Amino acid sequence: MFIHSILTLVTLATSTAGLDFNASAWIWANDTSSGEVAFRRHFTTPAGKTVAFADTLLAAENFTLFVNGEELGSGANYQFASTFRTPFLTSGFNVFAVTAMSGSTNSTLAAVLAAIQITYSDNTTDIIVSDNNWLTCDIVPEGYQNTSYDDRSWPTAVEKGLYGTAPWGQVVIPTATSPSSTLTNATNWIWTSGVPAWPSPAPLGSRAFRLSWTPPPRQTAISASITASINDEYLFFVNGNLVAGGYGYQLTQQFTIYILPAPKVVFAVNATNDSGPGGIAATMQINTSGAPACAECTSSSFALSDTNWKWSNTVPDGFEAPDFDDSSWSPAVVEAVYSALP
Ligand SMILES: *[C@@H]1O[C@H](CO)[C@@H](O)[C@H](O)[C@H]1NC(C)=O
Ligand SMILES: *[C@@H]1O[C@H](CO)[C@@H](O)[C@H](O)[C@H]1NC(C)=O
Ligand SMILES: *[C@@H]1O[C@H](CO)[C@@H](O)[C@H](O)[C@H]1NC(C)=O
Ligand SMILES: *[C@@H]1O[C@H](CO)[C@@H](O)[C@H](O)[C@H]1NC(C)=O
Ligand SMILES: *[C@@H]1O[C@H](CO)[C@@H](O)[C@H](O)[C@H]1NC(C)=O
Ligand SMILES: *[C@@H]1O[C@H](CO)[C@@H](O)[C@H](O)[C@H]1NC(C)=O
Ligand SMILES: *[C@@H]1O[C@H](CO)[C@@H](O)[C@H](O)[C@H]1NC(C)=O
Ligand SMILES: *[C@@H]1O[C@H](CO)[C@@H](O)[C@H](O)[C@H]1NC(C)=O
Ligand SMILES: *[C@@H]1O[C@H](CO)[C@@H](O)[C@H](O)[C@H]1NC(C)=O
Ligand SMILES: *[C@@H]1O[C@H](CO)[C@@H](O)[C@H](O)[C@H]1NC(C)=O
Repeated sequence: MFIHSILTLVTLATSTAGLDFNASAWIWANDTSSGEVAFRRHFTTPAGKTVAFADTLLAAENFTLFVNGEELGSGANYQFASTFRTPFLTSGFNVFAVTAMSGSTNSTLAAVLAAIQITYSDNTTDIIVSDNNWLTCDIVPEGYQNTSYDDRSWPTAVEKGLYGTAPWGQVVIPTATSPSSTLTNATNWIWTSGVPAWPSPAPLGSRAFRLSWTPPPRQTAISASITASINDEYLFFVNGNLVAGGYGYQLTQQFTIYILPAPKVVFAVNATNDSGPGGIAATMQINTSGAPACAECTSSSFALSDTNWKWSNTVPDGFEAPDFDDSSWSPAVVEAVYSALP
């Protein structure tokens, strides 16, 4: 095992004052049907101002964000927000558009939470939040993301609750220092399907796990802040490089790594069960950049320990390599929420 020089352990930078959801409402279409819903928010810049960039902070169960027709990125867990920066606003009329899909499990959670900060070249800002100034449509028309789309027949969105209210509760926001608090009740312990029913023989030994994460369009990953609690013994790899190892779930490790530009980020864990429960609980806050074409186009979002991971009962040599073929591996199994295990 080698700790490659391209991955540098760093201390976390000081957090800068960021966007929050304090004034945002969870919004949805005015019906309880599940399925896809489209949203549009018009924004006209004040006369005489030039936009430097806009930051969008967004949380929803399954969303895709567009600005003036261009896709900025997507997300899939309403308890972990993503942030996207774009310089591509025009002086004059702009449209933020979101497609969201209610989760398969529970349509009462179907809602979109957003906060957008527009920064002008003179360093003044405007804030837009999710509220009943957004328009919505409970079908998703072709081309609705475009500024030119005619939305005059769309009703306004319905505010289902202010940020902080039940059933959604708090949302984790990407920040420089968030890793310490990202193993929340929304984080799951995952493992293989091999956790047997009593009294069958219980499996000891090493298991391999992989998650392949794809950056937003036109972006490459630049860093990841990882918080991991893994039972019992583990080696943690990112894009083939060993970045951490440890023993015992009581030890939560946090580490920030820089990543060489790559089309995807592959997290791989060799986890060994020595006795009792075995599990992986992890959050990975991944920062991406649009450089070199658009260095200002940055985003930050979370990957989690969830059923998007895959596992193998053996740990094959080279399993940590980004291009290792895990197509025959099975989806990870959620054992319990993070707070449930001892
Ligand atoms: C938003 O709410 C949090 C928690 O109540 C608080 O710590 C923070 O200062 C608030 N932010 C602003 C800008 O008021
Ligand atoms: C939502 O639908 C109800 C029932 O059809 C209607 O009474 C109400 O005015 C609608 N609200 C909005 C904001 O469209
Ligand atoms: C997310 O929504 C898209 C459509 O917007 C759908 O194709 C996809 O299956 C959904 N993903 C999940 C995990 O529900
Ligand atoms: C805007 O803020 C940046 C960073 O703080 C600074 O470098 C720049 O000079 C400021 N521009 C104006 C017009 O005040
Ligand atoms: C968006 O508008 C452009 C021109 O205004 C058009 O070429 C394009 O097809 C539209 N996109 C969609 C998805 O309809
Ligand atoms: C959906 O979620 C709400 C809020 O958490 C909860 O009250 C309700 O029981 C859930 N419904 C189902 C079918 O799980
Ligand atoms: C990742 O992005 C977040 C949110 O913009 C920022 O606060 C943090 O400093 C970035 N982390 C690194 C290592 O660049
Ligand atoms: C997390 O879960 C534990 C145990 O179920 C519960 O006691 C605690 O209140 C939860 N915390 C939050 C913030 O929901
Ligand atoms: C780990 O091994 C122990 C001892 O054989 C067993 O009791 C336990 O169920 C195993 N855990 C998992 C997650 O396989
Ligand atoms: C996986 O971890 C176990 C226990 O530390 C070790 O014996 C084994 O060599 C590791 N395998 C790989 C391929 O990293």
